[in-house]
Amino acid sequence: MGGHDEKDKWIVRSHEGTGDTFEQIMERRLSRRDVLKSAAIASSVAIIGSVAMDAEQAQAQRIATPKFATVAAAAITDDEVKVPEGYYARTLIRWGEPLTAEAPVHNVWEQTPAAQAQQFGYNCDFVGFLPLPFGSSASNRGLLAVNHEYTNEELMFAGYDPKNPTRNQVDVSIAAHGLSVVEIVRAADGTWSYARGSQYNRRLTGETPMTITGPAAGHPWLITSEDPTGTNVRGTLNNCAGGKTPWGTVLTAEENFHQYFGNLDGFDKADPRYAAHRRYGMPAAASERLWETFHARFDVAKEPNEGFRHGWMVEVDPFEPSATPVKRTALGRFRHEAATIGVAPNGKVVAYMGDDAVFEYVYKFITKGTYNARDRKANIGLLDEGVLYVGKFNADGSGEWLPLVFGQGPLTSANGFSSQADVVINARKAGDLLGATKMDRPEDVEPNPVTKKIYVALTNNSQRGGEGRAPTDTANPRAANTAGHIIEISEQNSDYAALKFRWEIFILAGLPSDASTYFAGYDKSKVSPIGAPDNVAFDSAGNLWIASDGAPRAIKYNDGLFAVPVQGSERGNVQQFFSAVVGAEVCGPEFTPDERTLFLAIQHPGEGGTFEKPVSTWPDRAGGPRPSVITIQAYDSRKIGS
Ligand code: FEO
Ligand code: CA
Ligand code: CA
Repeated sequence: MGGHDEKDKWIVRSHEGTGDTFEQIMERRLSRRDVLKSAAIASSVAIIGSVAMDAEQAQAQRIATPKFATVAAAAITDDEVKVPEGYYARTLIRWGEPLTAEAPVHNVWEQTPAAQAQQFGYNCDFVGFLPLPFGSSASNRGLLAVNHEYTNEELMFAGYDPKNPTRNQVDVSIAAHGLSVVEIVRAADGTWSYARGSQYNRRLTGETPMTITGPAAGHPWLITSEDPTGTNVRGTLNNCAGGKTPWGTVLTAEENFHQYFGNLDGFDKADPRYAAHRRYGMPAAASERLWETFHARFDVAKEPNEGFRHGWMVEVDPFEPSATPVKRTALGRFRHEAATIGVAPNGKVVAYMGDDAVFEYVYKFITKGTYNARDRKANIGLLDEGVLYVGKFNADGSGEWLPLVFGQGPLTSANGFSSQADVVINARKAGDLLGATKMDRPEDVEPNPVTKKIYVALTNNSQRGGEGRAPTDTANPRAANTAGHIIEISEQNSDYAALKFRWEIFILAGLPSDASTYFAGYDKSKVSPIGAPDNVAFDSAGNLWIASDGAPRAIKYNDGLFAVPVQGSERGNVQQFFSAVVGAEVCGPEFTPDERTLFLAIQHPGEGGTFEKPVSTWPDRAGGPRPSVITIQAYDSRKIGS
């Protein structure tokens, strides 16, 4: 969470006198449900997700729910990872470990950009396991694709001075961003290790050449002094979460890209690009890391278009180490958290996405073409053509996906749009004009492959109802929403390509003793406290697994991983499976196909400390903290949570 705007994180405003109170909204919402329930209006009830029908209840009896000994919430000073009894966690790969045969072993005292570009990067976030060989469902060998969201220079470098970073420190940091692809293998005794020197091992950094495709490619705003074509860009930054495609590529999301660009106020305020950059939150003066001191492309006054070349979804082929990553502009430009894929009954591929900032939107993209399981190459262009939609959550529990298409509705020259390129570059402005619903920081938006329902993790927002800010609404019912919530979307006919949906609040997170929390109606005395939901995953029974980022601030416990059934009598029964260490958020989560291994990324352990005064020494107890990916397995090799 350290990568987010300070203003996003810390400003708390009273909600008095603005919009409805949480109690009013929930009362209305619940009483409407109760009315429906008692009237037994079958057709209406069926579309209200959490009201169980008899048939659904009968089915629920057969649903496998996660079984494990719940892990207790841990104090924010606790520096040990915790797993349920019968399970163990091991560190698989740490920041700095060499991926190539030539890469030097990490030396925190003598870091170089060249070494870091061949070593595992910092702050691991998204984790994707892709079985080897390609197309198999192997669970003992595969590629791990791992995002490196941002850097904590105060933990990485001895004597770091944030006001005067050295050129070497800046360039190490740029090389510590991006993505790692690394081959991993599980030995007969169950132990996972990574294969140093594997032909697949690869780093993408803030310098790696990438191609720009889709509607915005070549647009005048994407042309820089370095790239007169507007189609080639150096690097990917702030890669938060992501997704895997059915054709075996990885989508890596450029989230808080704005924070790397400094000196916006040195640029011409009358130029429309100034307002465009402001809408995405670019710092008016210096950037936090001061990269613009050494690299003109990060100085908006000198290179006003470089920022438009970031904030995209990037498709990477981990099975082709020489393939150039591609920024797919058809999916829009915003602070992309992730992109998770569902294939609709008509074969179209649907990507669900969130723009992680307060009062921003939920999106989905539907391809023009269809998925062909027998033609991998053809699938690799699918995300270049299609329609981007933004979500509108109506007060009555209905919802619509509104098309962001140039020439339709308000997206015309009257509002400054002259092409689809303008629409995707300024996706937020397009969403504003369409009246999309302003959400409490959309993180993962992910379809449940078992139930086909979509879960939207909204991590927090304490500014709702503040001056000049949107009031509470039924989809975002809490003004001081420090602990976040999760919305459940039911697409019409369970079709990912549908343009209408029903939605329901699934969980209002927090301490169960907090009257404003809600766990799908489950007995609150029996659930685990949970704060700031972020990354989600599903097991093969369709149970939802939720990783948190921000629990220390929201509920005064370390972040963790939680499992919750979404169907049947246990629906809403949130139980903690894992607890992280001081200062860390939990990312991933990712299962092997056999679900006997769970991968988690432990991001920014020890955040809040410094190199000289660490507050965590995880995972090695020697030296400072190191962001790492861990494996969790059961001693008896059972499926996780069975
Ligand atoms: Fe990087 Fe939205 O978490
Ligand atoms: Ca995240
Ligand atoms: Ca996820």
